Amino acid sequence: MAENIYPIFEKMLQREDREALLKQKGLMIWFTGLSGSGKSTLAIALERELYKKGILCRILDGDNIRSGINNNLGFSEADRTENIRRIAEVSKLFVDCGIVTLAAFISPTNTIRHMAAEIIGEQDFLEIYVSTPIEECERRDVKGLYAKARRGEIKDFTGISSPFEVPAHPFISIDTSCCSLEESVKTLEEAILPRIR
Ligand code: ADX
Repeated sequence: MAENIYPIFEKMLQREDREALLKQKGLMIWFTGLSGSGKSTLAIALERELYKKGILCRILDGDNIRSGINNNLGFSEADRTENIRRIAEVSKLFVDCGIVTLAAFISPTNTIRHMAAEIIGEQDFLEIYVSTPIEECERRDVKGLYAKARRGEIKDFTGISSPFEVPAHPFISIDTSCCSLEESVKTLEEAILPRIR
């Protein structure tokens, strides 16, 4: 596939140059968890806190990406894999710019998350498992999707008719049903800041 393609990366300025410019290190903060678990809420709150400290971030989020670059993908295993593959490739570009990149995607299987980590680079990849129990996600049902899934109106719905594999060794686990947003963001910030500066 890469026949007749001649990458020119070595002629460009390097990641270190961009990190020196921004005075921060590029990093991937990868939130995984069920729909409604609080991934995007945490990412948004964390971005705001890091912004106050002068740290440049970029959030990539399921519903946004799926209405743009990935608007041709559904929720079969193959489409979810392709969804995450593209997101990981895009994230890698952000990280290479020295940007703290926050991804909020269900990314339901070990295989899918492992693929993302491989593409981005294990050393830059911090997995945050948002472990809010399904009962709580379903109780919140912010988008009304759990109700639809229970009525059989959405197929392959994660946690109901499609699997979610609990990450074996996340960098941090956060259950948003038992700790406040402020507490969670503080925990994240303390763990992440030494990796950024
Ligand atoms: S992933 O599995 O491929 O990582 P992603 O995070 O991009 O999923 O998208 C999940 C979001 O899509 C959910 O938060 C929900 O709003 C919506 N959604 C629509 N259909 C489904 C489905 N069948 N399973 C899970 N989420 C769905």
